[in-house]
Amino acid sequence: MSDYQELAARIRALSAGETDEVALMATMACELHHSDERFDWTGFYRVVAPDLLKIGPYQGGHGCLVIPFARGVCGAAARTRQVQIVADVEDFPGHIACSSSTRSEIVLPVVGRDDRLIGVLDIDSDRPGAFDQNDADALSAMLTEVFGQL
Ligand code: SME
Repeated sequence: MSDYQELAARIRALSAGETDEVALMATMACELHHSDERFDWTGFYRVVAPDLLKIGPYQGGHGCLVIPFARGVCGAAARTRQVQIVADVEDFPGHIACSSSTRSEIVLPVVGRDDRLIGVLDIDSDRPGAFDQNDADALSAMLTEVFGQL
């Protein structure tokens, strides 16, 4: 289980002064992924066109390259700008399975300055019900700190 305070401090130190979105995504995906045994896929999807996400930096097996806002858990997070906590991916209509071993998922919107949607952070787990509101709150705070002023 992540010590989110320690993790946030490490990411804060590693990303200090950096404003490049891809560099920040790569750093955050790496630190998040290796911090918690629940996280089996950790990565970002970037808004590359209206209503279209494209894969960004990630850790874990291959991820699908392109996701329209109309599809999947990532599309739902981008469309609604609400955190999606999915206890069982089989119960999510239109879930996109990049790995057959994924059982639960959390996807959070990544929002920059002036409410600009930069993309989403997607974390998959092979464990059912791996994520809760504590994860959503801590991850959202980290995303705001790292990306909120870009
Ligand atoms: N499960 C996601 C797709 C991304 S792969 O899991 C990395 C979705 O349903 O949007």
